[in-house]
Amino acid sequence: MRSKEDIEKEIRTVGKDILASDMFIRGFSQSHHFRSNVSDHELHVTKAALRLAGLFASADREALIRACLCHDMGLIGNRKVVYTTGRMCITQHPLDSATRAEDILGSISEKERDIIEHHMFPLILKRPDSIEAVLICIADKYCALYEPFTVRSSSVKLHSRMRIPVHAMA
Ligand SMILES: [Fe+2]
Ligand SMILES: [Fe+2]
Repeated sequence: MRSKEDIEKEIRTVGKDILASDMFIRGFSQSHHFRSNVSDHELHVTKAALRLAGLFASADREALIRACLCHDMGLIGNRKVVYTTGRMCITQHPLDSATRAEDILGSISEKERDIIEHHMFPLILKRPDSIEAVLICIADKYCALYEPFTVRSSSVKLHSRMRIPVHAMA
C-alpha cells in the first residue's frame, strides 16, 4: 500500500499545472462543507480516491488525479450567484468543472470527463461509466462527511506538504 507521502508526491507531480492554476488557488477562498473550502476539498477527494484506487491494479491514477483536482471547480464564483437553485447547482457544476479543467489542461480525456461530470451520482441520474468515476463518487461523499469537522491546522500542514503557497480559509 502506498504511503501518505507517496500519494501526496504523486499528486504534486501529476497535478502540477492544476495546483499552480489561478482557478485552483481561487478555490481556497470559497468555503465548502462548512469548515473547508473548494480546493482543500478537491485535495482531500483526490487523496481518498487514490487510496481506494490502490485496490484496483488497472485504475488510471493519472486520470483520477487530474479529474479529482478539478471536479468542483465549477462551483467557484458560481454557487448562489449563477446557480440560483440547489438543483441547478447539483446538475450544472460538474459540467462547468469539466470546462474549467479543459481550460487549464488544454484538453481532457473521455475518462476524465466521465469522472468529473458524473461525480454527483446518484444525486444526478447519469451514472459513472468507469471504475475511476465510481471511486470519486465514494471519495466525494466520504470527504463531505468529515470536512465539517476539519481544523485549520491540518489544512495549513497539508498546504505545506503539497508546497502550495496559499493562506486558505478553513
Ligand atoms: Fe461536486
Ligand atoms: Fe466534491
